Amino acid sequence: MSSNSTQPAFQLLPRHIAIIMDGNGRWAKKKFLPRLAGHKAGVEAVQQTVKRCVEKKIEVLTLFAFSSENWRRPQEEVSYLMQLFINALKNEAKKLHEQNIQLRVIGDRTRFDEKLRQQIDEVENLTANNTGLKLLLATNYGGQWDITQAVQRIAAKIESGAISSLAVTDELIQQHLSFADLPDPDLFIRTSGELRISNFILWQLAYTELYFSDVLWPDFNGDELDRAFAFFTTRERRFGCTSEQVTQRI
Ligand code: FPP
Repeated sequence: MSSNSTQPAFQLLPRHIAIIMDGNGRWAKKKFLPRLAGHKAGVEAVQQTVKRCVEKKIEVLTLFAFSSENWRRPQEEVSYLMQLFINALKNEAKKLHEQNIQLRVIGDRTRFDEKLRQQIDEVENLTANNTGLKLLLATNYGGQWDITQAVQRIAAKIESGAISSLAVTDELIQQHLSFADLPDPDLFIRTSGELRISNFILWQLAYTELYFSDVLWPDFNGDELDRAFAFFTTRERRFGCTSEQVTQRI
């Protein structure tokens, strides 16, 4: 669902927040701990962030848990992260369900081992009909991968004669991307002071407000999220219009 010109110029809260949780390794290093301890502490920051999103009745929270490029990390770290996801899904499933949270995993699952795929299916099935926060975990996800898989599926439809090449529009591409049924992110957050998008959501970030925090991910919490919300409320969202046009609409 693409952002459109009927949205108000100033919003109190974002409907969809997308976060790059960065800085786990640096957090651990600062404390003379192994990198893996940083990822473990990162899980707590995830819990705090989800809690505040539920309190604020946010519709969608997308977290970049593992990028298509993260496989390049040392094998030990990749295995640890996979185990952390399995454990987190196992331990949190009941709590997520009780809080009416719907969990979805986006990204290419084909490279995950059977155990992780099963765990993901279980939690997704358990929470599928929940109507509260939609929590999207982007794992083995990349914005370029998402656009590529969408184009491949569209090309297959053209090849089979189901649609003509003239049917390819922005909307059609958007409908073939991950989270096609959800609003585009209103607020993007990256922690740890890095000023990059790093192949996270690409297409749907077209009109997203970008917020960069110096805080390392394990230190992120509800108060830090409130700071990002405060920034967001000051932003005038113009979607290509002039300031005069959008303020007339309020
Ligand atoms: C980036 O920090 C973080 C990751 C690649 C992994 C994110 C994973 C978590 C926060 C763990 C829990 C998540 C879930 C959803 C259960 P980095 O390692 O790149 O840090 P650095 O740049 O300081 O080295």
